[in-house]
Amino acid sequence: MASDPRQKPGGPPRSGVLLPRTPALAPSILTADLARLGEEIAAAEAGGAGLFHLDVMDGHFVPNLTIGPLVVEAVNKATDLPLDVHLMIEAPDRYIERFARAGADMICVHQEAVPHLHRTIELIREAGAAAGVALNPATPIGALEEILPELDYVLLMSVNPGFGGQRFIPSVLGKVAALRRRLEESGSKAKIEVDGGVGPGNIVRLLENGAEILVAGAAVFDGRDPQARTRALVALLEGAQRTARAGS
Ligand code: DX5
Ligand code: ZN
Repeated sequence: MASDPRQKPGGPPRSGVLLPRTPALAPSILTADLARLGEEIAAAEAGGAGLFHLDVMDGHFVPNLTIGPLVVEAVNKATDLPLDVHLMIEAPDRYIERFARAGADMICVHQEAVPHLHRTIELIREAGAAAGVALNPATPIGALEEILPELDYVLLMSVNPGFGGQRFIPSVLGKVAALRRRLEESGSKAKIEVDGGVGPGNIVRLLENGAEILVAGAAVFDGRDPQARTRALVALLEGAQRTARAGS
């Protein structure tokens, strides 16, 4: 019998998709010290990370080149937390199965890079991963209107994709709130993820506006104590959630 390609080493076979409990902090390894990746991951996990965010860039859709399935596979061996693979590549359909086999639990593609989104979402599902679509800052949320019911998550970019350490684009706060309203109106359970320039100065407002998965690269991995930096961001998220619950 063929073995489950998505089984974690030594772990039980998987069934269904693996999404993090939210709100969740998703450290992006893009700004980590890649020569010490195992230690960086262990530190962020000890600090309370809910999942890891892995940025795949092809030098065409975005002006940078990063990692492929081999690194996803290595990260999968280093943690049991869900792996969220953000594909910033053209024609992603060719690689979805390979990333899922490497251990991706969540896979998102860019609306701007994919002409046949329903087909691509179906491929992600068939590969056994949660399916997401990412929008660049200039792409309106209306671009997802017809596909919203099919999605497990929507990733709103709050920088133009391609590099870590860029400045947060403030208008994305309103976009998060508008998407939250739209999801509620449509009865969709899709989660909202925000990616780019997220840190202590904006993470609480993002959560208050409806974001549930917060990606943080430079705010976690800047060479100094990623465990403490993760813990501080997670504490802000948990504090804001407690305040929201007390007020409702
Ligand atoms: C940018 C990537 C982000 C990036 C975030 O194109 O998609 O995931 O790693 O890094 P920071 O938090 O440093 O903006
Ligand atoms: Zn990303």
